[in-house]
Amino acid sequence: MSRTMGTEKDTRTNYFNIFNDNKPIVVRRCSLEDLEGVIEVNEKELPEDYPYFFYKSILDNYPESFQVACNSNGKIIGYIMWRVERSPAISSLKLMNKGHLVSIAVLKSYRRVGIAATLLSNSMKKLKKYKIDKFVLEVRVSNYLAIKLYKKFNFTTHNIKERYYRDGENAYYMTLKA
Ligand code: ACO
Ligand code: ZN
Repeated sequence: MSRTMGTEKDTRTNYFNIFNDNKPIVVRRCSLEDLEGVIEVNEKELPEDYPYFFYKSILDNYPESFQVACNSNGKIIGYIMWRVERSPAISSLKLMNKGHLVSIAVLKSYRRVGIAATLLSNSMKKLKKYKIDKFVLEVRVSNYLAIKLYKKFNFTTHNIKERYYRDGENAYYMTLKA
């Protein structure tokens, strides 16, 4: 399948065509009206569900890095959201800003054409506005596709968090220097 990455129309939007049929997928900042669609994608694609106010507070606090992908009908087909955490560095008293990847998902029928990679790279650029020292995330040890995606972005496994998920599965804690 060929993929044509478009040029950036402005700093907020990325257009690119997939499936060779001239129907653009748009990646842009999330708005309040998008939250319903974001929650729908999350509920279809991930076992971790969050209440509406959780999404809303991420949007209120970290709007720059909350991004969505939409199809030509404007339907939300993917999203990414981050939060910023301040915590002391292990080896000093200095406070570190961590960009914590809360969640990313793409609807099944739109996978494998670079949407997650676009969401990640765009949002990571935006996150730098929040003066991030490093990017961090947890991922199920069985989630081969997501782990491969993160490794492609040079994340490395820092440690394993035992029984991190409610069903008892372990997580890899992966980090990347900003
Ligand atoms: N097979 C092999 N590698 C894959 C696959 C696959 N099916 N899908 C993604 N990858 C890896 C590859 O390295 C790929 O790069 P390449 O195409 O150059 O080989 C890279 O990811 C980027 O692929 P994209 O097409 O951008 O990824 P996609 O849009 O398909 O979305 C995602 C990937 C988000 C992991 C998707 O599979 C998904 O929504 N899964 C369910 C939700 C999920 O697991 N989210 C992550 C949970 S962890 C967290 O949120 C912190
Ligand atoms: Zn986390």
